[in-house]
Amino acid sequence: MMISFKKGYGLLFFISILLLSFQNTEAQKNGAITTARQTESLNKNWKFHLGSANNPEKDFSYGIVRNFTIAGGGGGAVTPKFDDSKWRTVNVPHDWAVELPFEYHKHFDVQSHGYRPVGGFYPENSVGWYRKKFSVEKEKEGQRFVLRFEGVYRDFKLWVNNNYIGGNFGGYTESSFDITDFIEFDKENLIVLRVDATQYEGWFYEGAGIYRNVALETFTPVHIPEYGVYVYAKVEKSQAKVVAQTTVKNQEGKIAECTVSSYVMDAKGTQVTPTRTEKLKIKNNETQQVEQNFSIKNPLLWGLNTPNLYRLVSIVKKDGKIIDNIETEFGVRTFDYNATTGFSLNGESMKIKGMCVHQDHAGVGSAVPDALVYYRIKLLKEMGVNAYRCSHNPPSKSVLEACDKLGMMVMDEIRVIGTGKENLDQFERLVKRDRNHASIMLWSLGNEETGVQNTDLGRRMAHTLVQRQKELDPSRLSTYGGNNGINFKGINQEMDVRGFNYHIKELDDYHKEHPTQPIVFSEVSSMVSSRGMYAKDSIKGYLPDYDLNKPGWGQRAEEWWKFTVDRPWLMGGFVWTGFDYRGEPTPFTWPNVNSHFGIMDVCGFPKNTYYYYQSWWTDKDVIKIYPHWNGHKAGDKVNVWCNTNADEVELFLNGKSLGKKTMPRNSHLEWDVIYEPGKLEAVGLKNGKTIRTAVETTSAPYQLVLTPDRQAINADGNDVSVINVTVLDKQGREIPDAMNLIQFQLKGNATILGVGNGDPSSHEADKCMDGNWKRSLFNGKCQIILQSMEQAGEFTLTATAEGVQAAAVSIIMKK
Ligand code: GAL
Repeated sequence: MMISFKKGYGLLFFISILLLSFQNTEAQKNGAITTARQTESLNKNWKFHLGSANNPEKDFSYGIVRNFTIAGGGGGAVTPKFDDSKWRTVNVPHDWAVELPFEYHKHFDVQSHGYRPVGGFYPENSVGWYRKKFSVEKEKEGQRFVLRFEGVYRDFKLWVNNNYIGGNFGGYTESSFDITDFIEFDKENLIVLRVDATQYEGWFYEGAGIYRNVALETFTPVHIPEYGVYVYAKVEKSQAKVVAQTTVKNQEGKIAECTVSSYVMDAKGTQVTPTRTEKLKIKNNETQQVEQNFSIKNPLLWGLNTPNLYRLVSIVKKDGKIIDNIETEFGVRTFDYNATTGFSLNGESMKIKGMCVHQDHAGVGSAVPDALVYYRIKLLKEMGVNAYRCSHNPPSKSVLEACDKLGMMVMDEIRVIGTGKENLDQFERLVKRDRNHASIMLWSLGNEETGVQNTDLGRRMAHTLVQRQKELDPSRLSTYGGNNGINFKGINQEMDVRGFNYHIKELDDYHKEHPTQPIVFSEVSSMVSSRGMYAKDSIKGYLPDYDLNKPGWGQRAEEWWKFTVDRPWLMGGFVWTGFDYRGEPTPFTWPNVNSHFGIMDVCGFPKNTYYYYQSWWTDKDVIKIYPHWNGHKAGDKVNVWCNTNADEVELFLNGKSLGKKTMPRNSHLEWDVIYEPGKLEAVGLKNGKTIRTAVETTSAPYQLVLTPDRQAINADGNDVSVINVTVLDKQGREIPDAMNLIQFQLKGNATILGVGNGDPSSHEADKCMDGNWKRSLFNGKCQIILQSMEQAGEFTLTATAEGVQAAAVSIIMKK
């Protein structure tokens, strides 16, 4: 059904409206379409056991039995008859590295991975075996079946029913396997994975195991194959021109005649374009692609505050019956990168206020459930961050879904630059998987490739990748995180957008020499601080929580942000990093196991510089003073900082004014205060309105408090409840330096996923493997993360600590 709106054709317009209203009902009906396409989560009930990278006997005979010799003839843990009853039952996402106790090793790679004993020095901890049974009903015979792994760290081999299926090398790239031929209907089927995390891919904590979702997909032999829908929109005046490319594959054994129909729906499910239909005749084992074009009048743009999404509906029909359908979310927006005027989104000039993020979180390591990913991105958003750099690896799908929905732009990055078969394939899979996401602003073709970035080899690889990127996704541009300053020759010369990692002093000269190349700080700052600490401790590994310390290559927050604001041509930057992460304990080593770079700690608790960014990156009323008012000696000189976007601030100690100061833009205020216990209050005036905050000397811990992120979660086995723990004194004031050990008891059908407290030198367990869940507060806070099961109901978490009143919270799990 091809309908076009032509001005002046009244009758045609009338007919079109009629047809559109018909399609409206078709669209609504389509909500209930049942085709063969189904996605079944395989996250639950895996059997897991560590193997060994150097001892075949501990590796279930892998290496000494035949696993690749004849079809159906695997040995050891690969065979269906293998007894795994003594193996542990785990759900995925699962990261076995975070379950292991810390271990000191002097090697730099172990240090930069957070001193978890995984990798070449620890063969006994570096191979993991997973086994999972599943069944498929006989009625489904004739369909196609694909196993999808969103991310496994790393280098795994896969067997289904004793047959070797394939493997995946990269620890961050999604992989899928057509297992149709291997399915036994109405019988038990067995998936076996041997995962080998011996080698590292990065220089930061990476985890180990099946750390992202797994699913079994079912569809008809004539179907839209993986990544078979590509949709993007260009804004032209008050219209969006939508281009939809849909691929159909025929695996029916004979020529197939079918149709592909597509139309666009808005977020409410109302059809907003006509339906376009193409007829296809596809030979067996071939694919065909159609391009269908639409226009949306006065489209609702995707933006930071209004993340409007449209949905492309793609339907394949055969003999008049719908046999496949897919809905793909996309956004209508324009990103503009200008070498003179900087960056704009939808025509609105703005700075990129970005953060680089590694994927691990407190308690769970790299196995971050989708809901926790969402939680983290919401925290960034509240700080005023508008862009997320997936440093330095392909993100989980949930990162992109959350950014689409929350209005957060994304720089999507590959792990390593390369155009050999493996790397090119990883890059193509990344672009094809991700290109429909509204949030993605730029592709990043790598980071600090010091071996090749200034060479012609680097240039040639970058050239190949940029070309391929443009073929697969003509709607976007590419960049690269280069730590080579003024240097142009090599990778930088191929980039649409020049990414500067640090090298702030060379930026002006580079811009003068290359005035037509837009520039962004792909990475900047690397300021280091520990939440709630106010003195440097190089033995234990703590830094004061002020915007003061940075490595030689870094900049303080205030330094890079003022520099950026002063240069209209500079598009903005991505701070290293939004959250602390495991590994890279710069500038310390053991016993320090976590980074200090985060603007929030590994739990997502804000450090003080959070309020610097929030002051200048949002319109909220922000006022924050620090340090806390405990533990100083009377007469001490205390350096007090204030982060605020007020116009002026007056400081009071126990009611006595210590002076009023005007707030310089993009800066902070400081006072040296002679300590006396009591109340230190900052009173700001912002556009004539008073905003205030105070720190007070607190008394002994009296009462625990549990603060969940939500009162109710979904009983779907995936949703999580993040519960933060604090302790109050008798006067109800939060104690900012409390370090009490908290014990947790759970009643009800939920799973505790992990605990954390943001202490970069803590060696307490994230996963209390003995079931005795506990964690110390670190400077007044710790966190526990729970996951729902599939039963609706309620769980109650109780927190206790010696000499302090307990706290309990009940969370509803609803279907
Ligand atoms: C950068 C690098 C990051 C991180 C950071 C620490 O050079 O790209 O991955 O190591 O330094 O400052």
